[in-house]
Amino acid sequence: MASLRMGAIEVDPPVVLAPMAGVTDAPFRLLCAQFGGGLFVNQMVTARALVEGHRASWELARFHPAERTRSLQLYATDAHYAAEATRMLVGRDLVDHIDLNFGCPAPKVTRNGGGAALPYKRRLLESVIAAVVGAAHEESAGTVPVTVKFRMGIDDEHLTYLDTGRIAEACGASAVALHARTALDHYGPPARLEAIARLVEEVPSIPVLGNGDIATAADATSMMRGTGCAGVVIGRGCLGRPWLFAELQAAFLGHEVPPGPTLGEVSDVIRRHLGLIQQWYGTGARLAPFRKHLAWYLKGYPVGPQVRRAAAAVETPRDVEALLERLDPDAPAPGDAALFNRSHSNPLRRVALPDGWLDDPDELPAVAAPTSVLSGG
Ligand SMILES: Cc1cc2nc3c(=O)[nH]c(=O)nc-3n(C[C@H](O)[C@H](O)[C@H](O)COP(=O)(O)O)c2cc1C
Repeated sequence: MASLRMGAIEVDPPVVLAPMAGVTDAPFRLLCAQFGGGLFVNQMVTARALVEGHRASWELARFHPAERTRSLQLYATDAHYAAEATRMLVGRDLVDHIDLNFGCPAPKVTRNGGGAALPYKRRLLESVIAAVVGAAHEESAGTVPVTVKFRMGIDDEHLTYLDTGRIAEACGASAVALHARTALDHYGPPARLEAIARLVEEVPSIPVLGNGDIATAADATSMMRGTGCAGVVIGRGCLGRPWLFAELQAAFLGHEVPPGPTLGEVSDVIRRHLGLIQQWYGTGARLAPFRKHLAWYLKGYPVGPQVRRAAAAVETPRDVEALLERLDPDAPAPGDAALFNRSHSNPLRRVALPDGWLDDPDELPAVAAPTSVLSGG
């Protein structure tokens, strides 16, 4: 299958590591990139927090010198901060690609009209995308592409993805990515591939990336064949399974997909991941954020409850090493049942929205720009 072109950037194979707050930090991106090609997107940062100089957000926006394409996701709810943050990032040559997040279903975000709620107000959506594309273009003479990631809509009665795709295309976005669920679906029901196919028809002039439930190389190739999308975005499927990028690379090259790793091979990956964490955050790095990765790495392998409890309590690299020494290196890769239920997997009961939000899609509301670091998508 052909590589993916997003403006000046070629993505080969056409595979993108999904932005995942709290997950896709530099160590995890580097680890995934060691297995195969693609584009490895940083965590989401809030435009206003960058503009106001919040240190934590600028820390998140950093890249390792080994990262070939510095790809960052911005979260914005208004054109002013969106454009200012873009000018800073692109004007200072800190990124090669900006993605915009309009898919976050977290109640604290949608309740204020942001994230997955925002595309319903199409004039506001248009103003934010146009501001970012304009600023990126001015600062980079068109070399830093802007892409847009979104869900199908708020719920099945309020689908917005076709409008959003058309607006992004008209504003000069270089690609769009559809997480084929509504905000109400959250992470629950299966992704709806027919929506990806419909979007491909709707925006013929830019690549559409499909996103949702890709856990194997075969899932990726069948999504591309079945929908006509130009590339795939990989979220939960690579949590604790960065070797998925090797499997994807093999499949896209037409090679045989390597078998899943034994537990001994997984232990080597865990050691590598830990090494990258120590390199990036320092040898005294807090390991609490690594515990969730450990749980994902061990998922499906026969390690027993004591080891899982120990994984959930590691404090130091020695704790991790002691844990790995307890594992049976010959335990084979688990079957497909272990591929699912990593991180979020539930639907929402309702989508929190501002009062009257659904009354008029053509209203141009003022949505307060959040300053804090948000999480989720
Ligand atoms: C822990 C976690 C954090 C996420 N954070 C973001 C985010 O910051 N921005 C975003 O656009 N999507 C975010 N997402 C959504 C993913 O990018 C992706 O769209 C979603 O998981 C569906 O793909 P999947 O079925 O392959 O997981 C997040 C998902 C998870 C599981």
